[in-house]
Amino acid sequence: MKKALYAGSFDPITAGHLDVINRASRLCDTLVVGVIQNPSKASAFTGEERMAMIRKATEHLPNIQIDRFDGLLAHYVLQHDITVVIRGLRATMDFEYEIQMAQMNARLYSNQAETIFLMTNPEHSFISSSLMREVFALGGDIAGLVPECVLEMMKSKALASKGE
Ligand code: COA
Repeated sequence: MKKALYAGSFDPITAGHLDVINRASRLCDTLVVGVIQNPSKASAFTGEERMAMIRKATEHLPNIQIDRFDGLLAHYVLQHDITVVIRGLRATMDFEYEIQMAQMNARLYSNQAETIFLMTNPEHSFISSSLMREVFALGGDIAGLVPECVLEMMKSKALASKGE
């Protein structure tokens, strides 16, 4: 049984993440989507909200598990019998950071797992969670760049913050 992990802060999940999840789910028996609080980033959505959006956006896929964890990704890999770690590569600018993380992680999880990189669909190469939040907050149209349920959540949070 191949159990893969695709981890990120998913604040919120975007169409780019969803594309990687769709493709990665076909490469393994179970794909765990791991929601991590990245300490270097202030989060816009709570962990529960991020997990709920991922659950809704991936409900068409039968082999997805959603989990949330803190600490080292390598510890999670070792504790949960993960054999594949999936990362998406959007552009060459991602490469240096990703190779550094993959090599450090490889040392930490030794022979148990391999990091596999999926090239992001070029239609999504400019997307990031913070860019989606910024464009939305300034009134720009992000339909199609985030799953429909994310857009709904963003709209309802914006209304709630205006007290409507
Ligand atoms: N499509 C669209 N956007 C994408 C994308 C894709 N395929 N892949 C990444 N992105 C976006 C993300 O939304 C994120 O946007 P943001 O910066 O606006 O939030 C940005 O690109 C960077 O993504 P990523 O590198 O995956 O960062 P992350 O914060 O989502 O996740 C962790 C990074 C959590 C996986 C990493 O920090 C980690 O492993 N932390 C655990 C601690 C640890 O083990 N540290 C030692 C590592 S060796």
